[in-house]
Amino acid sequence: MIVPTRVLFEHAYGKYALGAYNINNLEQIMGLFKGCIDSQAPFIIQLSKGARGYADKRMLEAMIRTAEEIFPEAVFAVHLDHGDEQTCYECIESGFYSSVMIDASHDPFEENVAITKRVVDAAHAKGISVEAELGMLGGVEEDIKVDEKNACLTDPEEAYEFVKLSGCDSLACAIGTSHGAYKFMGGQGIHFDRVKAIQDKLPGYPLVMHGSSSVPQEEVARINAAGGSIKGSKGVDTAQYLPAAKLGVCKVNIDTDGRLVWTRVHREYFQNSPEKFDLRDPGKIFIKEYAKFIASRNELLGSAGQLASVKEYILAKA
Ligand code: G3H
Ligand code: 13P
Ligand code: ZN
Repeated sequence: MIVPTRVLFEHAYGKYALGAYNINNLEQIMGLFKGCIDSQAPFIIQLSKGARGYADKRMLEAMIRTAEEIFPEAVFAVHLDHGDEQTCYECIESGFYSSVMIDASHDPFEENVAITKRVVDAAHAKGISVEAELGMLGGVEEDIKVDEKNACLTDPEEAYEFVKLSGCDSLACAIGTSHGAYKFMGGQGIHFDRVKAIQDKLPGYPLVMHGSSSVPQEEVARINAAGGSIKGSKGVDTAQYLPAAKLGVCKVNIDTDGRLVWTRVHREYFQNSPEKFDLRDPGKIFIKEYAKFIASRNELLGSAGQLASVKEYILAKA
């Protein structure tokens, strides 16, 4: 069942975080739904502009709608990840999305407010909610490169002003994480003091953490042992997910870790079975492994086991 993102946030706030997982293909979709049912977790499925181009947005929508039929128990929201203004309007008009992210964080504050507000007006007219971003994460974000050193954390006072002026429904904050497999080059982790300061300014307001992959070192070691070369990578400590959730982080974005599972499965498969060429064989292994990974993340986020309760909450609101 596709549900409004807002409802999932209401249920989760201060208790647990929803995993927001990026998908690009059929195998990821199957693994994601299976992992969330296995762990009895509500979740957010998110589509980047890159994913919508790679698999064609119509193909992704059709696959997600079919997954909804295959897994009728599933409770999830569909979200546009890192949208530009035009893509946000397209998704709002499509009637398929629960929420969109407008990412104008690279623009000056006033411009970010103005763009976000335009998207909010269009989205709210259709009952869709909007995630915006303030501050800059380090690492690579779509095609924008932000030097880790210049990445600036979200200012709590500005966050308050931004939400008031733009009317956005949730806020992606720069709190020390960055996208990709090479986080925390300066050695720092999540800045909890900053999250707390933002929550103090915006009590009860849903915050979003991007760049949340943990980049498991055993996964990286297996990839490298099977011919890969991913050196010096580092991710978020998964023990920090729940403490962040308690401070109002309702949505935790994970993409890179899923790519690592894919890479490990395929590298190992072809290294061990050089004579094989049926794409379904590693595909089947990946779906299983990705489902296991998703279930493990949902446990760490506290969303595992929340399915029955979130269904009750949705029914009571209807
Ligand atoms: O933050 C970006 C997400 O990891 C999506 O990545 O734009 O390569 O699909 P992508
Ligand atoms: P990771 O690169 O840490 O998986 O972050 C993904 C993300 O923030 C998607 O918006
Ligand atoms: Zn992101």
